[in-house]
Amino acid sequence: LNKSKEGFVIWLTGLPGSGKTTISRILEPRLTELGLKVEPLDGDEVRVWLSPGEAFTREDREKHLRRVAHICQLLSRNGVVVIAAFVSPYRTSRDYARSITPNFVEVFVKAPVELCMSRDPKGLYKKAKEGVVKNMTGVSDPYEEPWDAEIVVDTSHAAPETSAEEILAKLRELGFVP
Ligand SMILES: Nc1ncnc2c1ncn2[C@@H]1O[C@H](COP(=O)(O)OP(=O)(O)OP(=O)(O)O)[C@@H](O)[C@H]1O
Ligand SMILES: [Mg+2]
Repeated sequence: LNKSKEGFVIWLTGLPGSGKTTISRILEPRLTELGLKVEPLDGDEVRVWLSPGEAFTREDREKHLRRVAHICQLLSRNGVVVIAAFVSPYRTSRDYARSITPNFVEVFVKAPVELCMSRDPKGLYKKAKEGVVKNMTGVSDPYEEPWDAEIVVDTSHAAPETSAEEILAKLRELGFVP
């Protein structure tokens, strides 16, 4: 089976600040130059137009991610490589996306919460500590680590480029990219 001719979904999950957006921005041009059609879907941007009314409760997060999963499924079945970068803290959401998408690659973007807090690229951890932001994953909300991710990248020691290369190498090994 030559999976490289088909679309697939690279689903990046991890704590806020773990590196999902940074890695997807490096991955996108690398996949494009291989001749693949690539569509990046990033949590921050997608939520604005897809789920503007939803909050960050478990119920609303799952509702939002079910919609995201269906977009991923539609794109990937039409030959597009989707890079989905979402905190997606609950296994149920990720498993739902997997269950409706034949070519699903889960990538656990792993970093200790203390490190994510010190990076705090959007200042959200600070706001959560001050009580301004509620339902903050890693602080006041859970993050369920994947048990069965196809790929795990530890971003605590490697540079973003290295993490992106690790993902590409694994995608090649799994037969998803030429
Ligand atoms: N190996 C690495 N991979 C990715 N990011 C890294 C790595 N090492 C250090 N970083 C840094 O960590 C930060 C990750 O921020 P980024 O916005 O990508 O996280 P995120 O997972 O998208 O968070 P959020 O869920 O809040 O959108 C950046 O400042 C990035 O430069
Ligand atoms: Mg991000």
